[in-house]
Amino acid sequence: MEVLLFETYEEMSRYAGRMIGDRMKAKPNLVLGLATGSTPLGTYKELIRLHREEGLDFSKVVTFNLDEYLGIAPTHDQSYRYFMDTNLFNHINIKKANTHLPDGKAKDPAKFCLEYEKAIKSAGGIDFQVLGIGGNGHIAFNEPGSPRSSRTRVVNLDEETIKDNSRFFAAVAEVPRQALSLGMATIMEAREVILLANKANKADAIVRSVEGPATEQVPASILQGHPRATFLVEKEAAAKLKGKYRKVRA
Ligand code: GLP
Repeated sequence: MEVLLFETYEEMSRYAGRMIGDRMKAKPNLVLGLATGSTPLGTYKELIRLHREEGLDFSKVVTFNLDEYLGIAPTHDQSYRYFMDTNLFNHINIKKANTHLPDGKAKDPAKFCLEYEKAIKSAGGIDFQVLGIGGNGHIAFNEPGSPRSSRTRVVNLDEETIKDNSRFFAAVAEVPRQALSLGMATIMEAREVILLANKANKADAIVRSVEGPATEQVPASILQGHPRATFLVEKEAAAKLKGKYRKVRA
């Protein structure tokens, strides 16, 4: 795993956006794995800018999102579908039919998860996966203890995650307790992975993932075993790292 350090969130976001843009230029029908949360917002802004100002073409790109709350409709303003539409898809020339998210209202969620895995396979697999990280080291909604062999499935959210994500809801009680999430094995099969982290509340999760042992108790640490994983870390999130890593200006 490679670690790149950035002075600011803006620089980290610019760099991540350009990485994606470069992969799209090399492969216009890139299969892109996308994440929600506040962290990738800057990256999505950069992608929108690249599209508007530099003509970056999304017309052949296919996307799969990592996760969605169970029980929440795509029209709900806290659904990840709504998030992706408003923060990225509505502002670029992607075909909506090429954008995939787990369906929080699936009648048979377990069956839906199997179909989601199949859809990823038949698209050719994920070429480039964007990840954020939870305060407890989770990736997507793979909470601590998620098996390395896990696939897309229904998961229970940790108390810490429910608390963290309650800032987006009117009250903690409104945060869904379950979600549909890509599995650890699915994420590890992506050909290339980047993980973005900013702010001091991610410093513990970052040091445990990068410098601690690779363990299912810290899901992001499993990426140590990925052949092409890069952690893009802003200064505050990197504050607890002890090793020497490459500093990048962007
Ligand atoms: C949620 C998402 C994760 C994301 C995490 C961090 O739990 N399921 O994919 O990485 O939040 O979110 P933020 O970037 O807002 O800190």
